[in-house]
Amino acid sequence: MIRIAVLNIKGGSGKSTLATNLAAWIAQCGRHVALVDYDPQESATAWLNRRPADRPHIAGVSAKGSDVRLTRVYRLVDALNTEFAVIDTPAALPVQELIYYCRDAHKVLLPVLPSRIDTDVCARMIRHLHVHGGIKKGDGRLGIIASRIRLDTLAYKQLKKFLAILEIPVIADIRDSQNYVRCAELGLGVTELPPYQRGADMAAWEAILRWIHPADTPERAASSEHASRIAQLVNLLPDRDL
Ligand SMILES: Nc1ncnc2c1ncn2[C@@H]1O[C@H](COP(=O)(O)OP(=O)(O)O)[C@@H](O)[C@H]1O
Ligand SMILES: [Mg+2]
Repeated sequence: MIRIAVLNIKGGSGKSTLATNLAAWIAQCGRHVALVDYDPQESATAWLNRRPADRPHIAGVSAKGSDVRLTRVYRLVDALNTEFAVIDTPAALPVQELIYYCRDAHKVLLPVLPSRIDTDVCARMIRHLHVHGGIKKGDGRLGIIASRIRLDTLAYKQLKKFLAILEIPVIADIRDSQNYVRCAELGLGVTELPPYQRGADMAAWEAILRWIHPADTPERAASSEHASRIAQLVNLLPDRDL
C-alpha cells in the first residue's frame, strides 16, 4: 500500500482539499483507495459522506481522536487492503508528532499558499520535517504543492521565486478556482467534473499522480473513466434490457 500524508502545520493551506481531490482522482483511475482523516474538524470525512454513491468508491477511516503514536489506525487501514491511503492531518500539529505521520508515509505532500506568512511557515515546516519528521534531503518523499494559485499575480511570482530556491520538488500548481469549492460541497474531486469544466485542472492532478506512482498514467485514467462511464450507463438501463 502506498501511503501519502498531506501535512502543513498551518490551517487553511488546502490540506483537506488536496487529500479529498487526490483520493477521488486515485479512485477515478481505477485504484482502491482509503481516505484517513486525523483532523478533529473532519472535513475529509464530511466530504466523503456527501460523495454520491455512483462515484468510484473511497474507503473512509475516521482517525479523529486516535493517538497517532499508536499503529492501530494503520492496522485498520492495512486490513482494508487498499492500494493507496491518503492521510489528511490536523493543523497546529505539535512538531514532535510529525514523525508519527511521516515514518510510514511513502510520500509527504506539503501544500503552500502564495502569501508571505505561508511561505515563512513553509520554510519552518520543511526544517521541522527534516529535524522531527525523519525526512532526509534527497530521499524523494517530500513534494510541495503550490495551493490556490492565480497566475499573473505578484503573490504567485513571489511564491515561485521562494520555491525555486528550495531543494524540494514542486509537484504541481493547484488553481484557485470555484471548481474546488463546488466539489467540496458535492463530495467530488475536480477531475470528476465534466471535461469542459475540469480542463484547466487536469495537468496538476496528472503531475501529482505521476510523482506518487509513475505507473498510473493519464491513459490508464482515461480508459478506466471510460469503463466507469459505461458501467454507469449500464446501471441506468432497465433490468429487462440487460
Ligand atoms: N484550490 C482552491 N481553490 C479555491 N478554494 C480553495 C482551494 N483550496 C482550498 N480552498 C478553500 O480554502 C479553504 C481551506 O481549505 P482546506 O482544504 O480546508 O484547508 P486545510 O485543510 O489546510 O485547513 C476551504 O474553504 C476550501 O474550500
Ligand atoms: Mg483540513
